Amino acid sequence: MTQTLPSIEIDSFWLPRKASTVAQELDWAFYYVYGWSVVMFVGVVVAMLYFAYRYRRRTDKDVTSEVDHSTKLEVIWTAIPLVIVVSMFFVGLKGYLNVMVSPANALEINVTAEKWNWVFSYPNGTVSPGRLVVPKDRPVRLIMSSRDVVHSLWIPEFRIKQDVVPGTYTTIWFEATETMETALLCTEYCGTAHSDMLATVEVLEEDKFQEFLEGGDDKDTPPAELGKKLFASWGCATCHSLEGVKGVGPALNGIFGQTHEMSDGSQVQVDEVYLRESITQANAKIVKGYAPVMPVFQGVLNDRQVDALVAFIKSQ
Ligand code: CUA
Repeated sequence: MTQTLPSIEIDSFWLPRKASTVAQELDWAFYYVYGWSVVMFVGVVVAMLYFAYRYRRRTDKDVTSEVDHSTKLEVIWTAIPLVIVVSMFFVGLKGYLNVMVSPANALEINVTAEKWNWVFSYPNGTVSPGRLVVPKDRPVRLIMSSRDVVHSLWIPEFRIKQDVVPGTYTTIWFEATETMETALLCTEYCGTAHSDMLATVEVLEEDKFQEFLEGGDDKDTPPAELGKKLFASWGCATCHSLEGVKGVGPALNGIFGQTHEMSDGSQVQVDEVYLRESITQANAKIVKGYAPVMPVFQGVLNDRQVDALVAFIKSQ
């Protein structure tokens, strides 16, 4: 795991805390359907047991009733469930439309999913890997796409979940009702590190949120230190150990200066040029024994960020 995530607070026996405007209504829809399911289940089981007992064969003279049809009964047990099912449909439809159709004034945030990491981009150009920061009491619309396979964005405390698909956009919206931290999870199996594909959600007051948007200026951070931060926020550690453990990708501690064998049999000395290429065009050279699964960071990280990551890896 790349970062310690905020835990999901539990509100009741089975549901997390309600922290968005749609949560109350969606929970109500859940309990509505659940309530009727319990009533139906208990009703059917009790009636079945009662009839089995009441009409059991007691003597040899007991015979099966000759009555085999009752229009009145047929109408009753068709009409009542129909009304219940239709009411469930409308409760569900209302909740669905509420979640799918965002208010026109929503703040739009782009979400890019890739193995195994979430990146959030704001209208002013701020890019925030691994951390979705949003203002309180303001509708937020997520416009989402994937760079590789199908992922799914899930924020349990907001009661929203939506598939994120390569080659197109899907959207979902929410309005957070309290300042808090919570977890965002990938809920579509997407490969080896699927269960580590997590992010932090931070809900801030409007002024703090504006500070976040204007911040992110890392001019004064020394390269290796900035690289350490980037290594954590971009989820590098999901695949690359710094303790010599073989993961989805090779461990990176102590590799600078070493000579490694590539999958095509060639030998490569680990220097700045190789590290830079491995970050920006990850699959140009593949270390022997590993799969070419790393995302390409060309055009995603700027030069200063690539330099910082190279400096950090050198220092390990
Ligand atoms: Cu992405 Cu599971």
